[in-house]
Amino acid sequence: MDFYSALYTKNHTTQKARGMSTQKPYKLLLLPGDGIGHEVMAEVKKLINWLESNSDLTFECQDDHIGGAAYDAYGHPFADQTLEKARKSDAIIMGAVGGPKWDDTPYDLRPEAGLLRLRKELGLFANLRPAIVFDALVDASSLKPDIVRGLDILIVRELTGGVYFGEPRGIEDLGDGKRRGFNTQTYTTDEITRIGAVAFDLARKRGNKVTSCEKANVMESGKLWREEITALHAKEFSDVTLEHMYADNCAMQLLRHPSQFDVIVTDNLFGDILSDEAAMLTGSLGMLPSASLGAPGVPGLYEPVHGSAPDIAGQGKANPLATLLSFSMALRYSLDEGEWADKIEQAAQSVLNSGTRTADIMAGGCTQITTSEMGDALIKELSNSLAKAA
Ligand code: IPM
Ligand code: MG
Repeated sequence: MDFYSALYTKNHTTQKARGMSTQKPYKLLLLPGDGIGHEVMAEVKKLINWLESNSDLTFECQDDHIGGAAYDAYGHPFADQTLEKARKSDAIIMGAVGGPKWDDTPYDLRPEAGLLRLRKELGLFANLRPAIVFDALVDASSLKPDIVRGLDILIVRELTGGVYFGEPRGIEDLGDGKRRGFNTQTYTTDEITRIGAVAFDLARKRGNKVTSCEKANVMESGKLWREEITALHAKEFSDVTLEHMYADNCAMQLLRHPSQFDVIVTDNLFGDILSDEAAMLTGSLGMLPSASLGAPGVPGLYEPVHGSAPDIAGQGKANPLATLLSFSMALRYSLDEGEWADKIEQAAQSVLNSGTRTADIMAGGCTQITTSEMGDALIKELSNSLAKAA
């Protein structure tokens, strides 16, 4: 899949850049989380084992809990000892968090709070969410093939600010048996410009266009967002085409004419919503990886865009490709092993082209396979490509 290489041609901080030998094992923290997280992570482990036997890469993997599983094990959805392991790793691979079992858990101990803590503590402010339509899956979209064929959008979502973390927040008693819930949307110049710079930088290596989304028509934080992005563009990135769009219009345009977009940069909440919408356009939520990156030297977090899907957990129906491709992004952006990332991505493409599909992307004429069979199929393609190259 060359388009993944095209997405992120610039490697993030890497072991090699830090002068470490590739002989040293890469330290990975594996956090399967909840629901299908376990099944899809099992396939990542298979791939890691295969790489250890078939390449000169070595890994030192640690497992730990996040989300509901962490709440059950430690009484917190992201415990301090797990955070320490995360800080010491080179990359973190996550499955998914959440499930009905924890619906009545206190708000700040819900599975989602664990993921938010991990993002915030490591300062993983840049969330890259590609929405790509794979040629073999063009009919899987709910939109007409002509509208989505070749689609390749990158959503750059600000991940550690905005209404997700703004203070004050809470639910207060109004005294008459009624209550008031409140959150604060806040962005500073620095928060806006650092995510804007990531978006412009990535756009230069792709279609050279950034669409910046906010609600400057009703929110001061949106007005500031627009002004700061405009100023940054004029100062450092005037070679990139910049367009501003209200977030509600962007939601509509994504359905009407998605190919007008290249890179979309937006805040935490709008990014959450627009990235789900864009992912679904591709018809292959089970295929999409993501990366959350912070300052140089901080381990990146790699996770599938899909959720924990408790309704199908444990049934072998989940598609492991999004998590396998997230691992591949970790190879590329945290470990500087881009060649292996290319090989894994090409193998995923070949598996799809061969007509084997998990239930989520099943189509007429294809053969349905399980989660574990999909992992095996990817490894078989990798083995074949090594054999051919030898
Ligand atoms: C996402 C998820 C999370 C978010 C949840 C699980 C906290 O929806 O990564 O998009 O809202 O950021
Ligand atoms: Mg979301």
